[in-house]
Amino acid sequence: MKVLITGGAGFLGRRLARKLLQLGKLKNAKGVEEKIDSLVLFDVVPADGFSDPRVTVVTGDIADPQALSRVVDAQTVSIFHLAAVVSSQAEADFDLGMRINIDAARLLFETCRRLGHCPKVLFTSSVAVYGGDLPAVVQDETALNPQSSYGIEKAIAELLLSEYSRKGFIDGRCLRLPTISVRPGKPNKAASSFASGIIREPLNNEETVCPVTADTRLWLLSPRQAVENLVFAHDLGAEAFVQNRVLNLPGVSVSVGEMVETLGRISGQAAVSKIRWESDPVVQRIIGSWPGSWDMKRAHALGFKGDKDFDSIVHAYIADDLVARRCSEI
Ligand SMILES: NC(=O)c1ccc[n+]([C@@H]2O[C@H](COP(=O)([O-])OP(=O)(O)OC[C@H]3O[C@@H](n4cnc5c(N)ncnc54)[C@H](O)[C@@H]3O)[C@@H](O)[C@H]2O)c1
Repeated sequence: MKVLITGGAGFLGRRLARKLLQLGKLKNAKGVEEKIDSLVLFDVVPADGFSDPRVTVVTGDIADPQALSRVVDAQTVSIFHLAAVVSSQAEADFDLGMRINIDAARLLFETCRRLGHCPKVLFTSSVAVYGGDLPAVVQDETALNPQSSYGIEKAIAELLLSEYSRKGFIDGRCLRLPTISVRPGKPNKAASSFASGIIREPLNNEETVCPVTADTRLWLLSPRQAVENLVFAHDLGAEAFVQNRVLNLPGVSVSVGEMVETLGRISGQAAVSKIRWESDPVVQRIIGSWPGSWDMKRAHALGFKGDKDFDSIVHAYIADDLVARRCSEI
């Protein structure tokens, strides 16, 4: 079985790749487990650090048809489409966001259509497709009303995926991810980058800036659960996505103030004092337009799982990333 991850050098792409290599198999279109013989990690930057013989690292621009045709062929039965320009970058660079988040998505679906073998395509959308005057808990029927370039682009790509699936060109499955926290590594160009930074940096004894108010409410999922849910969505039978190709994944609703309280409980007031509160109106506007919670009935009925609470998200970061990093430094 040949599997492709676009955005394979990214944060979730790498973690998903490690998970797939560890599992060694996925369910094919007939629902039968098949060995993963080939895992292609495609990204504009190289996905370094993979020595597994099943992995092929390919660099290229996903908006370039020739680059894409090098990594999608008739043997590619499953595609995790994660390549994207994230929120603040898409807001700052209109053309880039449109090109990567919409045009390249259509190009990928079109490439699959031309090959004619209807691969599974897992796509990651975002809370950012919602916005405006939202109910306290967003329902499946809540209208999409994105308030950012990124949100608009994700919403358009969701519809494209639904249409290419309706026509039988792909078996598309779209997961709307909550904001992923706690993300290891360095801050990135997502407006939500602080949602990891205000925990990660203090736990690493570094200073950080919180650009939003303490009462700002976020909808969060740990990296661990995000990857579990991507694999779970892949292996579900096609009937789960026939009526609706898009699914809101479970999350945890917390205010930024509650996140900081958790940090204090787990790591003490010295960690909390590493956070400098410095409002950024652009980030506040984007994040403030996102839902702080949505209904999880459909996701739970299908068997998707979220984190228990924000404390367990922080503990997962400490176990999965912080401890591993400190051990590698010894
Ligand atoms: N992390 C989150 O909080 C979150 C929340 C909701 C949705 N998502 C979505 O999940 C997916 C993965 O997110 P992530 O956090 O790993 O982001 P990331 O930025 O770490 O990964 C995205 C990858 O896409 C690659 N990319 C960008 N332009 C490209 C191009 N022209 N050609 C090929 N590759 C290109 C980047 O180099 C990067 O490695 C994205 O689609 C993102 O929108 C993430």
